[in-house]
Amino acid sequence: MCLNVLSVCTTLLAFFLQAQCLDNGLARTPALGYNTWNAYGGDINEDLIRATADLLISSGLKKAGYHYLVIDDAWSNLQRDDKGRLESNSDRFPSGMKALADYVHSKGLKFGMYSDAGSHTCLGYPGSRYHEEEDAQTFADWGVDFLKYDNCWAPASDWVIDRYSAMHAALNKTGRPILYSMCDWGVGDPWLWAPKIANSWRTTGDISPNWESMLRCLDNTIGLSEFAKPGAWNDPDMLEVGNPGLTEQEQRANFAIWAILKSPLIVGTDLRRLSRAARNILTAEEVVAVNQDKLGVAGDLIWKRGPTEVYAGPLEDGSRAVVLFNRHTSGTQYPLSNITVQWQDLGFEDELDATVRDLFARKDLGTFSGSWTGIVGLHDVRMVKISPIKTAPRYKDWRPWLQHSALHAAERMKRQLSGLQLEGLPGRPTKMARYEEIQEVVGDTQVS
Ligand SMILES: *[C@@H]1O[C@H](CO)[C@@H](O)[C@H](O)[C@H]1NC(C)=O
Ligand SMILES: *[C@@H]1O[C@H](CO)[C@@H](O)[C@H](O)[C@H]1NC(C)=O
Repeated sequence: MCLNVLSVCTTLLAFFLQAQCLDNGLARTPALGYNTWNAYGGDINEDLIRATADLLISSGLKKAGYHYLVIDDAWSNLQRDDKGRLESNSDRFPSGMKALADYVHSKGLKFGMYSDAGSHTCLGYPGSRYHEEEDAQTFADWGVDFLKYDNCWAPASDWVIDRYSAMHAALNKTGRPILYSMCDWGVGDPWLWAPKIANSWRTTGDISPNWESMLRCLDNTIGLSEFAKPGAWNDPDMLEVGNPGLTEQEQRANFAIWAILKSPLIVGTDLRRLSRAARNILTAEEVVAVNQDKLGVAGDLIWKRGPTEVYAGPLEDGSRAVVLFNRHTSGTQYPLSNITVQWQDLGFEDELDATVRDLFARKDLGTFSGSWTGIVGLHDVRMVKISPIKTAPRYKDWRPWLQHSALHAAERMKRQLSGLQLEGLPGRPTKMARYEEIQEVVGDTQVS
C-alpha cells in the first residue's frame, strides 16, 4: 500500500517534472566540451584558445565527442564600450570574438562564452545583470553556442530565480539556440526550477583539484538524479582530470562518477601537457557512451557501507551502468576493497543471468547471476555495464533514486530546510509564489 502510494506520487512527479523542460532543442544528452577555467583561471588569450581548438582535434578529444570550446572569465575589457556593449579584451583578444568564433567553428567545434548574473564577473569584468538582452544579442551576433552564467556580485535582494530567468528570456529572444549552463553554485535549490529555464545547473560550489573538493561536489549532487532529464542536467562542476592534485585513480573516479550522474563532461586541463593517463580516461569511449546514452536517466548512489559506495543508472538497451567507488582514507592498511552490487538493487531478479563488462578495460568479465563483486583500489572506481542475457524489466520498473530512499531522505530533508531558510526574509516572497511567477515568465508546457 505504502509502496503503491509512493510509486503513484513518483509517477505524478515525473510527469510534473517532464512538463517543465526548457524547449531550445539542446543538450538532449549532457554537454561534452572544454572550458578554460580549471586550467588557466583568468590567464587566457586568443592564441591559447586557437591552440586549444587545434589540440582538441589532435588529441582525439573532439573525436571522442568533446565539441564545445568555452572561454571562461576574463575575456572582456573592464568597461563596456560607449554604446554599453561588452567588447573583447583589447590586449588579450585583439582580433575580436567574432574572428575567434569563426576560427573555432572552422574546426568543426562549437563556441562557448561566459558571463555573470551580477554587476561584475568573479574576476571583476562587467556582468550581465540588467544588460541581459543586449549581452545575449552580442553573444548571438558573435556566433556563440553555449553560455556559462556565473553568480558573483549579485545583491542579496535580487532573487536568484529572477536573475537567471532574465538571461533565459534574453537568450531565447535572440532566436539563436544557445546552450544555457547555469552556474549559481546550487543557491536556491536550482534543480527545482532551473529545468524550465536552463540546460544544466550547478549543484554545488566550485571544484578544485583535490580529493576533498571532488567529494564535496559529489556529495552535494547525490539524491538529485530525479531532476535530470534530456535537455536539463545536474552539474557538479567541471572535470579535474589531468590536473596535478588528483592521482590517476582519483581522476578516474572523477570521470566515471560524473559520467554516470549525467553531468556535463567539461574538460579543464592544459591540453599542451595532456598526459597519456588523462587522455586515456577522457577518451574511454564506453564510459562516455554511458553519459551520452539516449535514455537520459541519471544514475545515483544506490548503496553505501562506510566508505564503499555503488552508483547505478539504467541504459536504453535495458542494461545498467554501475560504478563501484572506494573512498577509504588513503594510508589505510587495506588498500583494496571488495564491493558488491546486488541484482536486486538494480531492479533485476536474483536468478537473472547477466554479462558484466569492464568499461575502462573494454573487457567482458563473464556471466553472473545475483550479484557481482569487484576489487577496487583506494580512491579508485570500477565501472561496468551489466546486461541481462534474456529480456529483463526495463528501467520503467526501476528508478535508481527509489533505491535506498532512506539514504536520500536525510539528504533531502537537509536541502528542504536550507531552502526554507530563504523564505520569509524581507523582500523575498515564498518559494511557491516565486515558482508561480516563473511559470508565468517562461510559460507552461502541456503535459502529454
Ligand atoms: C524560445 O522559446 C520557445 C517556447 O518555449 C521555443 O519554442 C523556442 O524554440 C525557443 N527558442 C530558442 C532559440 O531557444
Ligand atoms: C576480496 O575477495 C577475494 C576473492 O574472494 C578474497 O581473496 C580477498 O581476501 C577479499 N579481499 C578483501 C579485502 O576482503
